[in-house]
Amino acid sequence: MGKHLIFTIVSLSSPMSYAQHIFSKLQGPNIFTRNTMIKGYAESANPRPAVELYYQMHMSSIEPDTHTYPFLLKAVAKLTAVREGEKIHSIAIRNGFESLVFVQNSLVHMYAACGHAECAHRMFELTPEKDLVAWNSVINGYALNGMPNEALTLFREMGLEGVQPDGFTMVSLLSACAELGALALGRRAHVYMFKVGLSVNLHANNSLLDLYAKCGSIRDAQKIFDEMKERNVVSWTSLIVGLAVNGFGKEALELFKDLEKEGFVPTAVTFVGVLYACSHCGMVDEGFNYFERMKKEYGLVPRMEHYGCMVDLLGRSGKVKEAYEYIQNMPLQPNAVIWRTLLGACTIHGLLSLGEVARARLLELEPGHSGDYVLLSNLYAAERHWSDVQKLRRTMLTEGVRKTPGYSLVELGNKVYEFTIGDRSQPQSEDIYAMLAEITKLLKLEGYVPHTANVLADIEEEEKENALLYHSEKIAIAFMLINTTPGTPIRVVKNLRACADCHLAIKLISKVFKREIAVRDRSRFHHFRNGDCSCQDYW
Ligand SMILES: *[C@@H]1O[C@H](CO)[C@@H](O)[C@H](O)[C@H]1NC(C)=O
Repeated sequence: MGKHLIFTIVSLSSPMSYAQHIFSKLQGPNIFTRNTMIKGYAESANPRPAVELYYQMHMSSIEPDTHTYPFLLKAVAKLTAVREGEKIHSIAIRNGFESLVFVQNSLVHMYAACGHAECAHRMFELTPEKDLVAWNSVINGYALNGMPNEALTLFREMGLEGVQPDGFTMVSLLSACAELGALALGRRAHVYMFKVGLSVNLHANNSLLDLYAKCGSIRDAQKIFDEMKERNVVSWTSLIVGLAVNGFGKEALELFKDLEKEGFVPTAVTFVGVLYACSHCGMVDEGFNYFERMKKEYGLVPRMEHYGCMVDLLGRSGKVKEAYEYIQNMPLQPNAVIWRTLLGACTIHGLLSLGEVARARLLELEPGHSGDYVLLSNLYAAERHWSDVQKLRRTMLTEGVRKTPGYSLVELGNKVYEFTIGDRSQPQSEDIYAMLAEITKLLKLEGYVPHTANVLADIEEEEKENALLYHSEKIAIAFMLINTTPGTPIRVVKNLRACADCHLAIKLISKVFKREIAVRDRSRFHHFRNGDCSCQDYW
């Protein structure tokens, strides 16, 4: 009697506490009842007791059966409790359940959901019959854990194996493309979704919007937004942030006004976009206004990112001393990003002593960050303190500051190509270097003088004799100039901040070669066109 009642209660999705009450009254509940309880918890908002029930079973030597594991692992995935997952995995191996297809698929899902993309993949490889859920789990695991290339490779394998993707697959694929800036591939995914009718729901549309915004194709993002029948605050926020980081601050602010008019409630992320837009447009008063409204009208507690925007807002508009005062008075303990923003402002506006204050704080907070050395040495170089530049270089060498290797990605055909500094790994290297020589010659005619100050300063990337020519973004651009027809826009994704020399060179390349060039660096977009950049030379 009780057993059937539990099944009924659980399947009616009543509160689990009631089912638990009856369960606790049962004498030696059988495996069916136990599985029902595990399933109920796994599907509830609080899946923890599912795991406890399983351990109770294990302690009292009650054998789990084939139905136990999928729900149990689902509960573990929801809890992102990978340690528990590993324990259960090893018990399943001992019980001989690991070889069951649906247990394997559940293990793949569990590892991926816990952020262990590589474990998920290893499990996946062991699975002879991979179902769509397993493909989705492992692709999504890679896409969400900063390994978009692996996600794309698996997506291709999936096609070769004849497995048809569904909406979930496509959303993961789009986020991988957004991460890599793989616009052409993302666009093909979009066409595919449209063709098979997958592009109907809000979530998929938001992924498309995000893809285009992150690839710097802001007009496409706008188009998606305009055509959406249903929008939520995520859609609005993606476009507002997208417009702001792509250099369309005024439009971002207009859109924010529309959002409020339509009665949506902005989130903390929306305000990052708004404040960023104010900063970009030099709208200091408006920025402070929005900051106040965010707190008072929307009850949002400003986070570090928001304070960072405010420091940037002041610094960018030349109020560097005010920015320093602002930092001293902010209620949160300023982190390295805040001080780095100040250091950047000091560099641009040439405030040496304040720059050193910021740098001292950075040394305390993040001693090994090579980017700070770069900023400070830029400052020294701009102020012609050459001996300080040299001293800083020596400190870096003796302290062994780890340099993040720089790389640039470009997409050609269906492939994403990666270039590092001084890259000669491409079969086309000779042509690329001939092109680079040609570029230098043409740029010199435009009055281009390589920034020697930055040769010293740009130590984010390995220094090479001819460092200026060899930075990864220049190589990537030369590669694209060779391989695309005149007038084709060029898109580069770079993992570090662009150096001043590359920035200047790319501006001139956009003019001389009549190409639009979009570079996404660590924090923003640079849209180069006809000798100018959307960042207005402040980044
Ligand atoms: C998603 O976008 C397409 C056009 O790109 C549109 O036809 C569809 O209605 C949108 N779906 C929702 C839920 O807004």
